[in-house]
Amino acid sequence: MTPSPESPVAVLCSGGDAPGMNAFLRAVVRLGLNRHKIPVYGIRDGYRGLVRAARQVNGDAEALVQLKQEISRNTGHRGLIDAQQSIIQMDHASVSGIMGKGGTILGSARCLDFHKPEVRREVITLLEKLGVRALIVSGGDGSLTGAKLLAAESNLRIIGVPATIDNDLQFTEMSLGVDTAVHTLVWAVDHFIDTARSHRRVMVLETMGRESGDLARMAALASGAEMVITPEGGALTEERMTMLAEKIEGAMTRGRGHAIVLIAEGVKFEPEQKRNGAYILRDAFQAYFGREGAPFPDLEVRPSVLGHLQRGGHATPGDCILAARFAEEAWKSLLDPNGMNGITALRYNKVEIVPFGCEDLPERSVHSAAMDQLHDDLANW
Ligand code: F6P
Repeated sequence: MTPSPESPVAVLCSGGDAPGMNAFLRAVVRLGLNRHKIPVYGIRDGYRGLVRAARQVNGDAEALVQLKQEISRNTGHRGLIDAQQSIIQMDHASVSGIMGKGGTILGSARCLDFHKPEVRREVITLLEKLGVRALIVSGGDGSLTGAKLLAAESNLRIIGVPATIDNDLQFTEMSLGVDTAVHTLVWAVDHFIDTARSHRRVMVLETMGRESGDLARMAALASGAEMVITPEGGALTEERMTMLAEKIEGAMTRGRGHAIVLIAEGVKFEPEQKRNGAYILRDAFQAYFGREGAPFPDLEVRPSVLGHLQRGGHATPGDCILAARFAEEAWKSLLDPNGMNGITALRYNKVEIVPFGCEDLPERSVHSAAMDQLHDDLANW
């Protein structure tokens, strides 16, 4: 059945927030209203907001009428101000001035309930009753899996948009937020270098990224950090940590005064460790540098876990542009009667839709390995 012009497209942000999500929301809303003349519903707090609204209605016709009234009464800023309102009809002004702002004006959440088929069913029923024609989901791995399940279990058009600083999605060269997070890490490394140089220290900085080392390796390449350790390189054993310490000490004997080491949070240790990698590496390095007869017994190591700092801040122009391109492709696909449900992806600098179920881009791991080699050759001293 062809949807009526009034039937809205809904958009939500899910999982860890990523810079560029606001630029993306702005683009989705403005393209909907200006180019396609289709209303856009913003869903607060990701899937959790949808589940909340579904439970509020819970099959009750009266509650559904009330929800519809709330949506049509409290539009734009009015709806956004009321933290209890889960579904907001967006207008032009509601996305004004948000382009580069970090976080997401709609809020985001991780929703474990959404793993349950019966909960997804409640949500699908709600969206159908509200006459929603399509849902756009921006988020990382888990959020896009949720989108894939919704697509399989309903007749709704569903488009996912990769937004995660981890850059761990194999089907796209870049996700929203990565460019900004790398930028932030370069800024952080620049600050740590000041102390590293002044005190002739080794700084071990732990980056985010889950099981992927992409964020760390991109930041290392862009900042000139001397060493980067990623999960893809395998588990760190005592022996490997000693080899890394030897490498740093060797550089010191050749006149190097300091070193910045990036370690991705996903790096595993053998034997397994509970503490953050930055602290374990600090202990191993410090023990090596302080050993009997060491050439630099005063060489100090300082660890830092950079944490959520990496998710915040003003989105870079690169992320804002990618956000607009992803939004445009999402709309294009949604409105194409032959368009497929899937995820927007950047491949060979073109934005396209990768249908759900075809998410593998094997070249990505080759590309990551090449980047590691490039970093090594540039950073060797
Ligand atoms: O997926 C983004 C990310 O920031 C990861 O890099 C990190 O492991 C995780 O989210 C942290 O999650 P939370 O904000 O829930 O602590």
